[in-house]
Amino acid sequence: MTLLQLTSLRKNYGSVAALDGVTLSVPAGSRTAIVGPSGCGKTTLLRLVAGFDQPDNGTITFDGQVLADGSSHVPAHKRGIGIVAQDGCLFPHLTVLQNIGFGMTEDRAAKEASAAELMSMVGLDRAMLARKPDQLSGGQQQRVALARALARKPRLMLLDEPFSALDTGLRAATRKAVTDVLSAAGITTLLVTHDQGEALAFADQVAVMRAGKFAQVGSPRDVYSRPVDPATAAFLGEAIVLPAEIADGRAQSPLGLLQVDDLGYRGRADILLRPEQISVVAEGEGTAGTISEINFCGPTSDARIALGEGFSFRLDIPSREMLLPGDAVKIGVSGKAHVFR
Ligand SMILES: Nc1ncnc2c1ncn2[C@@H]1O[C@H](COP(=O)(O)OP(=O)(O)OP(=O)(O)O)[C@@H](O)[C@H]1O
Ligand SMILES: [Mg+2]
Repeated sequence: MTLLQLTSLRKNYGSVAALDGVTLSVPAGSRTAIVGPSGCGKTTLLRLVAGFDQPDNGTITFDGQVLADGSSHVPAHKRGIGIVAQDGCLFPHLTVLQNIGFGMTEDRAAKEASAAELMSMVGLDRAMLARKPDQLSGGQQQRVALARALARKPRLMLLDEPFSALDTGLRAATRKAVTDVLSAAGITTLLVTHDQGEALAFADQVAVMRAGKFAQVGSPRDVYSRPVDPATAAFLGEAIVLPAEIADGRAQSPLGLLQVDDLGYRGRADILLRPEQISVVAEGEGTAGTISEINFCGPTSDARIALGEGFSFRLDIPSREMLLPGDAVKIGVSGKAHVFR
């Protein structure tokens, strides 16, 4: 069942088309990640769904009810949608308890009990309820913001870059904690991020956004392995794009004859390999190449590998190969290359 349906949403700020025709179905109970570079319209989209702003055109339908259609608009507080904004946005002058209890109608004791339960849900000690936001770390503030949003028991949670202020280790741990809380509560989630790894790890559905539009919407595996164009491929991870001549499910390329994922295509096209499909060894089977540059970075070395006809590509290769500039190597490829039709 579709919980949230966005259809042809448009939003202009003066001459800037922040959203330029966005369509998306969000199934109930799913996790959707919207990923795209800074300024592509991610926050604008969440603000329209939350009801902080109105679309110029298009419709937002939530659980069968039209929330906005360019002329009418259901106000934010009547939508039953929770949001954790990009900057956390806790009230700085209120304690954690007052932040979480803000807008709750219960008496003080009931509020405290609910707030304590929410704190344990997001993995924080209830002793922190008496603190002010500036007495918490960035990660703790983000969790309080999540607890505050959960307190309203939303059916849909909007998360705008909720982990961006955290360092790598804490980021992964917080992401896991938040994901667990949301799935346990069965809350449908829309996560905005410009971190492609985060989007691929978090979501069942990934929407790749560029300049106010979705370039592609699909499962994490699909958008990663079968991106619609080289720009989408490069946004989701390292992409090695090679020119090729294709026929009968095979491509003649600078890396030799490769299997492709498109049996029907015939003719010239660019093909995509991901770095994990390529192995570079000093001795073994594969296409001949030469190390043109190499920088030691610990477990791997950042290398540029030259093939024939002036073609070269960059790859992290295991440092145990002990390769030096000018060394001859063999390049092996596993799996299928993706064809950009
Ligand atoms: N209130 C506003 N007035 C004018 N322009 C705006 C306004 N809000 C957003 N914009 C513009 O709309 C575009 C999309 O902005 P938005 O905040 O949605 O981007 P974003 O994808 O969330 O970026 P980031 O990753 O940096 O948070 C940008 O060009 C931005 O400058
Ligand atoms: Mg933003």
